[in-house]
Amino acid sequence: MTDPKNMSQGITRNLTNYGDPGFAAYLRRSFARSMGYSLDSLSRPIIGIATSPSGFNNCHRSMPDLVEAVKRGVLKRGGLPIDFPTISLGEVFLSPTSMMFRNLMSMDVEEMLKAQPIDACVVIGGCDKTVPAQLMGIASANIPSIQLVTGPMLAMPFEGEQLGACTDCRRFWGKYRAGEISDARINDIEGKLATTAGTCAVMGTASTMACITEVLVMSLPGGAAIPAVHADRLRLAEACGERAMEMAVSGSPLPQQIITSKAIENALTVLLAISGSTNAVVHLAAIAGRCGIDLPLETINRISDETPVLVNLKPTGDHYMQDLFAAGGLTAVLHELKHQLHLDCLTVTGETLGQWLSEPPKWVDRNVIRKFKEPYQKEGGLIALFGTLAPTGAIIKRAAADSRLFERTGRAVVFESLEDLSSRIDSEELDVTEDDFLVLKNAGPKSASCMPEAGYLPIPKKLAARGVKDMVRISDARMSGTAFGTVVLHVSPDASSGGSLAFVRTGDQIRLSVKEKKLDLLVSEEELALRQRNWKAPDIPSRGYARLYYETVTQAPLGCDFNFLRYNQKR
Ligand code: FES
Repeated sequence: MTDPKNMSQGITRNLTNYGDPGFAAYLRRSFARSMGYSLDSLSRPIIGIATSPSGFNNCHRSMPDLVEAVKRGVLKRGGLPIDFPTISLGEVFLSPTSMMFRNLMSMDVEEMLKAQPIDACVVIGGCDKTVPAQLMGIASANIPSIQLVTGPMLAMPFEGEQLGACTDCRRFWGKYRAGEISDARINDIEGKLATTAGTCAVMGTASTMACITEVLVMSLPGGAAIPAVHADRLRLAEACGERAMEMAVSGSPLPQQIITSKAIENALTVLLAISGSTNAVVHLAAIAGRCGIDLPLETINRISDETPVLVNLKPTGDHYMQDLFAAGGLTAVLHELKHQLHLDCLTVTGETLGQWLSEPPKWVDRNVIRKFKEPYQKEGGLIALFGTLAPTGAIIKRAAADSRLFERTGRAVVFESLEDLSSRIDSEELDVTEDDFLVLKNAGPKSASCMPEAGYLPIPKKLAARGVKDMVRISDARMSGTAFGTVVLHVSPDASSGGSLAFVRTGDQIRLSVKEKKLDLLVSEEELALRQRNWKAPDIPSRGYARLYYETVTQAPLGCDFNFLRYNQKR
């Protein structure tokens, strides 16, 4: 018989409701025993291992090995490890974009953590949207959890240089579009860009979110940069299993004790110091929102002006994630930023961040991780822009942009949608010069394309052929963390919500000032009001997840989370 007092832990936690808890516990044990578990095993704390392998997710190829290593750690400490799947989001395998499904995955993680008999959990992910989805789910479920990332791929030598996804993907595609390399060569390169298990090899979105997970201290120290195929990652996985077992016994710390407004500020500081992906701004806002924390874009500007770029990694710099690992990892970066971080933040280890960082790193490669006083770039990588074209904000990654384009007024060349863009961008007839601003509309969160990574508009072919490498590009879309250029993103409200962007026409003048953090549409209010009169909101799909998405998705400054998933959202 089960003692009703002990039904809040282990296998009898979260019982199925038959109106008779004793029966539910008896039935559950019976079915669990059908899988070969002994009563001794079933009497132990249960560590869930949330996995997300998929034949459609190359970045999670190493997951079976990580699961085995986590299990080893749990068993060492006397717990019962049980793995279970959630959906997986393979960045390049989802249409229209993985962003549409991030919130769906977060709901899957949250609900499975809350519904199953789990005392603590190790959650494993890696690819761009997977880790934010898992952190959002963990934050909402609020049971003791550790995030384990799959880790970055290795860049590989290729004809005298290194190749790694995905900054090099873009570099070579740009050359191909400009006619500098042949079909045969681009085919060859296609097979050499991503050759090991793991996530993209540069400081793209996946690596940025791995670093953010480490500074949010939802992962164990050193977890961000260890390459996917390195034995240290398996040892880290084993340690995650051990630590999760301790958390199951103590029942703490809870994610909402760890993800505080101070921890979010720490994450922003690191995001800027690593010149991380613009996508992380959206994901951080969503994670913060799950914990009842606001993340005003003005905060980014304040921290950006105080925080230099310290790491020399692609796409801003020269190196790959494996070099960051060898140079001292994120821990060495955190040491440089120590005076800017809130060191009293609680971590998954139960210590404070300050205690984590009590010992200085033994060795740091200064080619990759610079000293705070001798930075790679003087100011943080990202800033928010505001103005009549972006009343609630837009983002530019200044560290990866051409500073000669920062202070200028340009003529808008407008594309109404992604379809319009792809049908006209390479046309010889396109009326465009390198001084124009390319503007893409209807690629934001409320658009049919659900805010894809399309903000990195290609340079029109006829300009690329003349050697033009960068132009000002403006949209409500996102950009891959592996891309670079003078690209203004996340313009909000987006065009499909009737934001100012919806009313820009080819020939309008737009003023960009990175110094003043401004983005203005130089069209009179009267003229804009006239244009607004004929605007009609797009139709919403009539059923299914797509309907839920369009009815409830928020704008970029709120993280594009569903409005009802934010913490304590009033109905
Ligand atoms: Fe998964 Fe780049 S495609 S991290």
